[in-house]
Amino acid sequence: MSENSQKKGFLGTLLSLPNDDPRKTIFVAVALCLVCSVLVSTAAVALKPMQEANKAADIKKNILAVTGLLNDDTDVDTAFEQFEVKLFEFETGTFSDKDPVGYDQRKAAGDPELGLKLTSEQDIAGLGRRAKFAPVYILKDGDAIKRVVLPIHGYGLWSTLYGFISLEADFNTIGGLQFYQHAETPGLGGEVDNPKWRAHWKGKHVFDEQGQLQIRVIRGAVDYSLAEAKYQVDGLSGATLTSQGVTNLVRYWLGDHAFGPYLKQMRSASR
Ligand SMILES: Cc1cc2nc3c(=O)[nH]c(=O)nc-3n(C[C@H](O)[C@H](O)[C@H](O)COP(=O)(O)O)c2cc1C
Repeated sequence: MSENSQKKGFLGTLLSLPNDDPRKTIFVAVALCLVCSVLVSTAAVALKPMQEANKAADIKKNILAVTGLLNDDTDVDTAFEQFEVKLFEFETGTFSDKDPVGYDQRKAAGDPELGLKLTSEQDIAGLGRRAKFAPVYILKDGDAIKRVVLPIHGYGLWSTLYGFISLEADFNTIGGLQFYQHAETPGLGGEVDNPKWRAHWKGKHVFDEQGQLQIRVIRGAVDYSLAEAKYQVDGLSGATLTSQGVTNLVRYWLGDHAFGPYLKQMRSASR
């Protein structure tokens, strides 16, 4: 190394090279990558708590919306305090003492201890695995249950749809259905978000008098002259596969392998 470059040091020597020198080009590219990756990872770490808080607020908003409690001026946190949140254990059909705060149903599904693999016969909603516990959001009026909100998810055409369904105090009449995450095609399967389509769910019955699961999205429009109309929702036009996916996921979560036994017990108790 020359006396001149020793004086400048490594960095100075590199920077004093002509701009078209390949060593300088490589150095600048590597330095730029390093600086950018440090910036991106710092931002990711710093913004994580904010993202988590936004996600939690969005979940609360959706739960309020599916129970008809969300207006423009609703204070989400205050309104959400009306709900009692409990963790439901599918295997025992009872509520657990576990703290629901911080419980992540999606993560739990993938955990060997907290989740289980569904058989192809059970897995009508294309879940693969299901968590052993799920949060249930209960809206009460004194001691009486007014509404119950259940988390639901399942495969549509392109994506897993995540949402909530609310049931009225009879544990049979649907109060609302709402998805907060999916990647179905806007204008086709994405019409699951259309308030007009969502409104069709309100008032529909899930089970018939014999307790059989009857709710479904049909192909085309519901014929209201038929007795079964109360269990049927209009299909999404041009999106039969997403519609079928919604039927499957609703029927899975309200069925025997998920919340069905709890709903049956509560229906008998509410009679
Ligand atoms: C680009 C593209 C996107 C589509 N997105 C959806 C979708 O999100 N959901 C869906 O059910 N069908 C979607 N389809 C249509 C399906 O491929 C299929 O044709 C349709 O579900 C059949 O329903 P239909 O009998 O009501 O037409 C899409 C088709 C194309 C070409």
